[in-house]
Amino acid sequence: MGKNIKGLVLITGTTSGVGLNTLKPLLRIGWEIIAVNRSNKRAVETAKKSLTNSEIKNIHFIEINLSDLDDVRNGCSEILKKFKNPINSIICNAAVYKPRLRKPERSPQGFENSMAVNHFGHFLLINLLLENVLSSEREIALNGKTTKFMPRITILGTVTANYSELGGRIPIPAPADLGNLSGFKNGFLSPISMANGKKFKPGKAYKDSKLCNMVTVQELSKRYSKDKIIINSLYPGCVADTKLFRDTPWLFRFLFPIFQKFITKGYVSQRLAGERVAQVASLKEYAKPAVHWSWGNRQKKGRKAFSQKLSKRIIDSDISTQTYELSRKLVGLD
Ligand SMILES: NC(=O)c1ccc[n+]([C@@H]2O[C@H](COP(=O)([O-])OP(=O)(O)OC[C@H]3O[C@@H](n4cnc5c(N)ncnc54)[C@H](OP(=O)(O)O)[C@@H]3O)[C@@H](O)[C@H]2O)c1
Repeated sequence: MGKNIKGLVLITGTTSGVGLNTLKPLLRIGWEIIAVNRSNKRAVETAKKSLTNSEIKNIHFIEINLSDLDDVRNGCSEILKKFKNPINSIICNAAVYKPRLRKPERSPQGFENSMAVNHFGHFLLINLLLENVLSSEREIALNGKTTKFMPRITILGTVTANYSELGGRIPIPAPADLGNLSGFKNGFLSPISMANGKKFKPGKAYKDSKLCNMVTVQELSKRYSKDKIIINSLYPGCVADTKLFRDTPWLFRFLFPIFQKFITKGYVSQRLAGERVAQVASLKEYAKPAVHWSWGNRQKKGRKAFSQKLSKRIIDSDISTQTYELSRKLVGLD
């Protein structure tokens, strides 16, 4: 009987790339999925291209535009009403990257939009669903075996947000750095567009938002005991051909995957990236608090995941506490 108890995993951003390619391995492991997207229609259409009808029956599509905090609130209350069982595992995957903007795009609440989608939307979603997730510890069937599953939250991080790695020190346009957080402290509304309150740099805005994602993992892991929940992050590798790069120049889109495949050897296929995300969100071997899982920047066949060393900008306790408290205020939780 135990083998039929399905666990419930929530994942954001499944219309393309890593998120789309995480669905199949999650289903294979045995999860029932809540797929959160800003368009259910597109999410269903794209899922149908790679999944069978019987697989799709195990996916519930919920529409949330992560850019809009009101939409996140409505979507989360819909989730809390709709599902009888609590959510066992959350995967924060959706993101936008717009390195060519001259002026910041603004979310409905007036925040710079890559920070709004990548960090604030997920931050609010996590906080609104946290109590539900914390209550989810139960026996579920994963890979055909009944397991007592410790609640889990997994956030997609990246190398360019980690100053401890070479990729995190690339000066174009600038490495990720939240500075003294004066942008957040002063309300993060126009004309402010960067967490540090300085001049708008669109590529850095993305890196800063991913830095906030990784800082959130550290701070949540401090606040919630590893005996109650595991919160981790991962760098799936350089998935150089996803739609994440849709707003880069065409020449970059053409050369970047070639460069990553043959020069840096950092290239990872969308399928492998999806496998990695599903594993980090599901398997016991990744149930270590605050770990940022990586397979390295040069991909080697058969290499096992390891705990990546993180920069002070991610693990500094004062920065993480301040970022967390200010984010709570900005999304309207305090
Ligand atoms: N690609 C890489 O090399 C790489 C490396 C390290 C980490 N990552 C991380 O991996 C994750 C997935 O990236 P990807 O490369 O797979 O990118 P992608 O193909 O562009 O997928 C991004 C997903 O996010 C969704 N999304 C964007 N804005 C949204 C919003 N306002 N509300 C809800 N969903 C929204 C997109 O949906 P729409 O179709 O509606 O736009 C799409 O489903 C990101 O967190 C990224 O930072 C990627």
